[in-house]
Amino acid sequence: MNHELVEKNLGWLIVLTILTVSVGGLVEIVPLFFQKSTTTPVEGVKPYDPVRLVGRDIYIREGCYNCHSQMIRPFRAETERYGHYSVAGEFVYDHPFQWGSKRTGPDLARVGGRYSDDWHKVHLRNPRDVVPESNMPAFTWLDRPVKSDDIEKKMSALRTVGVPYTDAEIAGARKQLEGVTELDALVAYLQGMGTALKSVK
Ligand code: HEC
Repeated sequence: MNHELVEKNLGWLIVLTILTVSVGGLVEIVPLFFQKSTTTPVEGVKPYDPVRLVGRDIYIREGCYNCHSQMIRPFRAETERYGHYSVAGEFVYDHPFQWGSKRTGPDLARVGGRYSDDWHKVHLRNPRDVVPESNMPAFTWLDRPVKSDDIEKKMSALRTVGVPYTDAEIAGARKQLEGVTELDALVAYLQGMGTALKSVK
């Protein structure tokens, strides 16, 4: 009887549907903000230093995420190839995270330390020089100084969303970017990727 009333009355149906979906959504989502495994960094994961932070922005600017994911799923085929599967605590300082799902190229979540800096530089300038069959584009324009005049603003903005940068770190950031090229910054970012959990098998 009550059910029939709800089904025949559009107003009630809308209100009760919204209510049900909201309660369901809140019950699933809200606990994630308080769960230790999603809010506490894995041991060894630190906020990005200024060079890596700038490198990360170049990664986003150049659209690397269109071909590369940064999330190793907990399947044998993936862990054998890339290493330990990704865990939430590795990404607490990533705003926004770069997990992605498109893999034209390999997953990069644990690429840090896999190659030398020089390998990355040659590879980014022209991937075919080291991987002849590669269809990754050549990023030939990265030999130029990084833009550093907005680093303080970037770091303060990240602090607002919970990255624990200190005033001193923010004040000293611009100095760390002196003489750094975009290529250096991008390689520094890649070399730091996934290293905290790398040794765990
Ligand atoms: C059009 C797709 C595409 C884009 C865009 C792209 N890549 Fe790639 N990438 C690939 C492919 C395919 C490979 C595998 C062949 C190779 O090593 O070049 C690869 C390989 C790599 C590797 C080696 C990974 C490994 O484990 O061997 C790194 C590092 C890398 N890319 C970084 C980047 C970065 C940084 C950017 C952005 C500046 C980028 N890629 C943009 C397709 C892409």
